[in-house]
Amino acid sequence: MANNQAATTYGHGKGIGATVGIALLGMGTVGAEVFRLINENANDFEQRIGGPVAVRGIAVSDTSKERPGVPAELLTTDAHALINRDDVDVVVEVIGGIDYPRELVLAALRAGKSVVTANKALVAAHADELAAAANAAGVDLFFEAAVAAAIPVVGMLRRSLAGDKIQRISGIVNGTTNFILDAMETTGASYEDALAEATRLGYAEADPTADVEGHDAASKAAILASLGFYTRVTFDDVHCEGISKITAEDIEAADRAGYSIKLLAICERLTAADGTESVNARVHPTLVPKDHPLASVNKSYNAIFVEAEAAGSLMFYGNGAGGNPTASAVLGDLVGASRNKVHGGRAPEDNTYAHLPIASFGEVETRYHIDMEVADRTGVLAAISNVFAEFGVSLRTVRQEDRGETARLIVVTHAARESVLADIVEHLSGLDDVHAVNSVIRLDN
Ligand code: HSE
Repeated sequence: MANNQAATTYGHGKGIGATVGIALLGMGTVGAEVFRLINENANDFEQRIGGPVAVRGIAVSDTSKERPGVPAELLTTDAHALINRDDVDVVVEVIGGIDYPRELVLAALRAGKSVVTANKALVAAHADELAAAANAAGVDLFFEAAVAAAIPVVGMLRRSLAGDKIQRISGIVNGTTNFILDAMETTGASYEDALAEATRLGYAEADPTADVEGHDAASKAAILASLGFYTRVTFDDVHCEGISKITAEDIEAADRAGYSIKLLAICERLTAADGTESVNARVHPTLVPKDHPLASVNKSYNAIFVEAEAAGSLMFYGNGAGGNPTASAVLGDLVGASRNKVHGGRAPEDNTYAHLPIASFGEVETRYHIDMEVADRTGVLAAISNVFAEFGVSLRTVRQEDRGETARLIVVTHAARESVLADIVEHLSGLDDVHAVNSVIRLDN
């Protein structure tokens, strides 16, 4: 075998006109939209698939809850029994969480059912195990909805760019944080006020931690990096910083310097001087020049910017969350998986043949915007620039604002390694005349 592909041969399809049985696991916002659209578009789906689809059952935790338009006889709390029915061919998982969906998805794959999941946390944490189960059974495992919902970025990396070499994927893959940062930039609001507004409008969840601390974006970065670099990158491999420490002052300073602050997921192929390649994936607030296409992505929209060797730069933009956009991605996968059940064959699998090493965050090189509160005294600037010089880091711009007894000093560096920058910040913080290093924000290269 030239790579890690399974030696599975794929069986024949069920044949044109055969019914594809669907098990739906979960009936939240996305599940309800998936069910509604399967019924509403049944004729179109039949034409696109080559046979009709029939929802055999819907696994929920509470069958007594009111669900308008959903026949009560389809509801069950026994997800395993539903998955294992002989007349179920494709299992759609839209439950969320990790442990229980993992158990169900593995059970489905091992039983020879193709799986469509919207679950980014599950895929980012357990992709190897899931891919191995799908390969062993010769079935499909689709997860387009796991990254940026309706934006077809998974299919684009798996299929459309399968003949190219991806250098970098950078994107806004979390709508909640983009809404908050955009509100802070356009209204001057504090982080707390913008978060409260996002919660009031239903963008942010009651517990916004996964979004605002970057965990949701980190899962998506892991998935994108794995697909783009044919190398397994998991959630734990992704360096992650959220937006909860971004202040109105940071936004205003960035604006004055010609930047917007965006929470970017960045997946990068690094090439050492000797040509050795590695990959890095990270999520952190990033200064994006206002003339970069990502800077104009506002409200809760998502966008993914892909740089590929032959294709050049590509950008994908749209709705990255919500019941309908997520259902669109789930249904695209459902049509694909069902087609393969009817006609035979499999979609491109999760292939990690390149096995590139994962570079630590310290090895990443970028530029920095460092905001400090310093004593307004002769020699302070010289002492500070000496620290940068000692570590071999060149300064690009220095701006000082008078604040009475103290001064605000904003330094923008040329490219430096994260590990070097960490040492510089430690030394700066140790200087008597540096009262505080308020923030360090990376600039997109
Ligand atoms: N909570 C996510 C967002 C959507 O705000 O973009 C689901 O990943």
